[in-house]
Amino acid sequence: MDGHGTDATNEPGADRAPVRLLGIGGSTRRESRSLAVLETALRLAEVHGAQTALADVRAMDLPLFAEDGSAAEQPPALRWLLQEVRMAEAYVLCSPTYHGTLSGAVKNALDALTPLGEDEPPYLAGRPVGLIALGGAGAANTLTALHHAARALGGLTVPTVVVVPSKAVDVHAREVVDQAVRRRLATMTHEVIHLAHRLRSPAPVPLGIR
Ligand SMILES: Cc1cc2nc3c(=O)[nH]c(=O)nc-3n(C[C@H](O)[C@H](O)[C@H](O)COP(=O)(O)O)c2cc1C
Repeated sequence: MDGHGTDATNEPGADRAPVRLLGIGGSTRRESRSLAVLETALRLAEVHGAQTALADVRAMDLPLFAEDGSAAEQPPALRWLLQEVRMAEAYVLCSPTYHGTLSGAVKNALDALTPLGEDEPPYLAGRPVGLIALGGAGAANTLTALHHAARALGGLTVPTVVVVPSKAVDVHAREVVDQAVRRRLATMTHEVIHLAHRLRSPAPVPLGIR
């Protein structure tokens, strides 16, 4: 999914090129609700002026991560994912709740980013991350687990996180249909894009330090 939209900021001097936002998530089943949620979030992000790409765990079908795998052994989907993560300025992570936490498939996709530890900056370092969890009461734990992983990868999680109950999703329309959940997704994507725009500006000189 790639798209262009209006810019998210009116700040003078801001680089107005669309923010490149990568969504990572979904599940391994065909009619995945969490994929529909992630797709909805990316569409809302496009309204806020992002250019989006989707890393769907089912479509990528990554092998289980092995730490001693060489670069030559990387399947094309992994090479694609690593390149997309490098190019993105911001991320949205979305996992279903499996047994009270994030799914193995989403965690495996995050583990597969290990080669980016050699980059400067490494992994998701210094870039905004929005978090979404699908599920019931246990989805709060899924958000916490995603937050731990995003933080370990150096990402800057935005304040608004989103729990999406299954009934908020029309899986056939591939859309979040609950208006309150859609508003929260829109707020989260706006925070991610706004922060990505602000991070493009040169860092201010720290006060009192010469
Ligand atoms: C192995 C497994 C464990 C699950 N555990 C939970 C759970 O702890 N809490 C919850 O709310 N839903 C749980 N569910 C329900 C899933 O979150 C729900 O089916 C969701 O739609 C799966 O995401 P998907 O539609 O993207 O495949 C579980 C489902 C599976 C397959």
